[in-house]
Amino acid sequence: MPFSINPPPRLLMGPGPINADPRVLRAMSAPMLGQYDPVFRRMMRETQELYRQVFQTENESTVLVDGTARAGIEAIFVSVLCPGDVVLVPVFGRFGQLLCEIASRCGADVRTLQAEWGTVFDRETIEAGLREHRPKLLAICQGDTSTTMCQPLEWLGALCHSYGALCYVDATATVGGNQLAVADWQLDAVSVGLQKCLGGAAGISPITLSDSVAELIKSRMHLEAGIQPVGYVPGSGPRIASNYFDLAMILGYWGQGVNHHTEATSMLYAAHECARILVEEGLPAAQERHRLHSRALRIGLESMGLRLYGDPTHRMQNITGIYVPTEVDGEKVRSTLLAEFGIEIGTSFGPLAGVIWRIGTMGYNAQRIPVLQTLACLSATLRLLGMKLPSDGIPEALHEYQSQDS
Ligand SMILES: Cc1ncc(COP(=O)(O)O)c(C=O)c1O
Repeated sequence: MPFSINPPPRLLMGPGPINADPRVLRAMSAPMLGQYDPVFRRMMRETQELYRQVFQTENESTVLVDGTARAGIEAIFVSVLCPGDVVLVPVFGRFGQLLCEIASRCGADVRTLQAEWGTVFDRETIEAGLREHRPKLLAICQGDTSTTMCQPLEWLGALCHSYGALCYVDATATVGGNQLAVADWQLDAVSVGLQKCLGGAAGISPITLSDSVAELIKSRMHLEAGIQPVGYVPGSGPRIASNYFDLAMILGYWGQGVNHHTEATSMLYAAHECARILVEEGLPAAQERHRLHSRALRIGLESMGLRLYGDPTHRMQNITGIYVPTEVDGEKVRSTLLAEFGIEIGTSFGPLAGVIWRIGTMGYNAQRIPVLQTLACLSATLRLLGMKLPSDGIPEALHEYQSQDS
């Protein structure tokens, strides 16, 4: 017989996934319901309403796409873009590159702007790109998890519109821990995942679409042959190239109950509970919590003599990049932390692979005990591997917490 699933205890302090909130795990183990059960339809409507609050929008078209966070990205791109459409992607890390990759697979004519990793874009650079390329869609990450940088977005939607472009944002890594005001910032389409600041599990992607994007998508509605009513007339726009990610049909499923996929029941429960927890705490309080625990972690790390990565004015509030000190082998540190202490931290990608570690303080792990455990075990590991440290970072991090308490 294969082993039963019995994972060892782990503290997941990398860039995601993180330990899911036990409330979310409990919700995921609730019994199945049929997808047209009135109770389940009510849960779907509640989930939409909760995510309108999470996204800070009144967008009617706020739904879940089954699949991990990139499912949300792919559904939006394949449903909005047609082959040959110009898409402008300001890239400041690996996940900007992912947006290019997905857009190019949709046949888009992808143009990029490049920022040095560890920095973000200023308004002038993006405006110059919009002026030069005149894209149908500008696509950008809010937080690029690979570099831990957070792109300012307050002005982006209005700027895109002044050049006739739609604005898409991947907020997978930032939602819940950093401000994200979809309506105020005039963002046309945003997608996220659960497995970071929302304290959930990977496997479903909440998205929100402005009315104009929803209309554009609905004009491409070509209902599956097997469920077309007599006399059915398809939309005038070109058929969306994916069935699974066809947002015209997915919006019909959420809105009018038109049959499409079978909703991923347990993941919907998870998404519902993640949003309920966040709304219960309050968005500003959750952002402040992420800020506090990242600050305490960073103070502890710097007190250990470690150097933080990236532009300090544009760091995400939930992930910290740290240069791997030259005295140690970064991968040996990570594997020792995992094997001896059950703590996972991340490395990064491309030019940052092996150069930085990434530590997440997000969702359920944006708490004092996981932060102090991580500092204590990281300093113990570095000492085990021969480094001399001025401090283990604990008194300094505790001091930061105590100054908050008083
Ligand atoms: C910013 C960002 N976008 C997209 C993704 C892809 O998410 P998933 O692995 O859930 O498909 C990630 C994953 O870490 C991410 O950090």
